[in-house]
Amino acid sequence: MKVIISGASGMLGSEIADAFETDGHEVKRLLGRKELDLTSTADTLRLIEAYRPDLIIHTAGNKDVDAVERDSRSGYFINTLTTRNMALAAMKVQAKLLYTSTDAIYNGEKGTAYHEYDEPDPINVYGFSKLKGEEEVRKYCKKYYIVRLGLLFGNRGHPENNMIRQIIEKLNQGKTIEASVDQVCSPSYTKDVTAAILKLCQTDFYGEYNLANEGQASRYELTKKICEQMGYDTALVQPANAGNIKLARRPKYTAFDSINYKMINAGTMPHWEDALARCLDELRR
Ligand SMILES: NC(=O)c1ccc[n+]([C@@H]2O[C@H](COP(=O)([O-])OP(=O)(O)OC[C@H]3O[C@@H](n4cnc5c(N)ncnc54)[C@H](OP(=O)(O)O)[C@@H]3O)[C@@H](O)[C@H]2O)c1
Repeated sequence: MKVIISGASGMLGSEIADAFETDGHEVKRLLGRKELDLTSTADTLRLIEAYRPDLIIHTAGNKDVDAVERDSRSGYFINTLTTRNMALAAMKVQAKLLYTSTDAIYNGEKGTAYHEYDEPDPINVYGFSKLKGEEEVRKYCKKYYIVRLGLLFGNRGHPENNMIRQIIEKLNQGKTIEASVDQVCSPSYTKDVTAAILKLCQTDFYGEYNLANEGQASRYELTKKICEQMGYDTALVQPANAGNIKLARRPKYTAFDSINYKMINAGTMPHWEDALARCLDELRR
């Protein structure tokens, strides 16, 4: 397949680009705003029409929930408008489109894990901007995969946008880290998500996927596990409430029940603790 991947300098996009290339696909990487700002409708369509991909994987976005809350206009530009542009372009060249969305489209009040048939109801600008992106995809495309993800960990991307690197930098400096106990999700490894996306894109099972490693954890549990596995003093990780340390409201509980992915017989996703151990092994190497 001819595949074009946006956000290919990012934590997830770079992983996906490598995996598709290794699998023998012809990959064009869109590395970021310096190369092409995907908020421009005209430039985006021109590029996609020139390349004529079979598949567009749109991972570019702004995942900084508090920054997007402060400047909602820019959040809608980066998360929603770029997705509208990619959806319009996919329609024009008849390409399949995969869009990476988020568990922040849910309000977190359900009390049990969210599956694909639960109603979205975002409580912050980031969640709204990504949900609006989903609507743009459905408006223009028939052959789409909307892949919703919980908190991602991995070793790629800009260090300042990489959760594990940020945590380890603070631990190295002996700084205390406050992590929320009241924000539970299904943390997932970019490598495992990438493997699932690679399988999914070779099917014509279009639609929504709440995709995640098995299990669930609070930010506090995840941070403590990273600290422990990397051999730092776990007392440096302190429990906190999201409302006291974050600007934007956070949904309390957004673990995933990946009904649709399980039903395509692509295998089960590993548990997040196993995934984290592999991720930290890769980091040590
Ligand atoms: N990381 C998570 O925990 C998480 C959880 C759920 C969902 N997601 C979703 O997964 C996707 C990938 O996340 P990630 O962690 O890989 O993000 P990331 O590391 O922050 O990478 C974002 C990428 O988007 C590019 N980009 C941003 N604005 C752009 C623009 N206007 N035009 C072109 N490129 C632009 C960035 O490049 P430049 O900065 O160089 O422009 C970068 O390559 C995002 O859509 C995010 O919403 C992430």
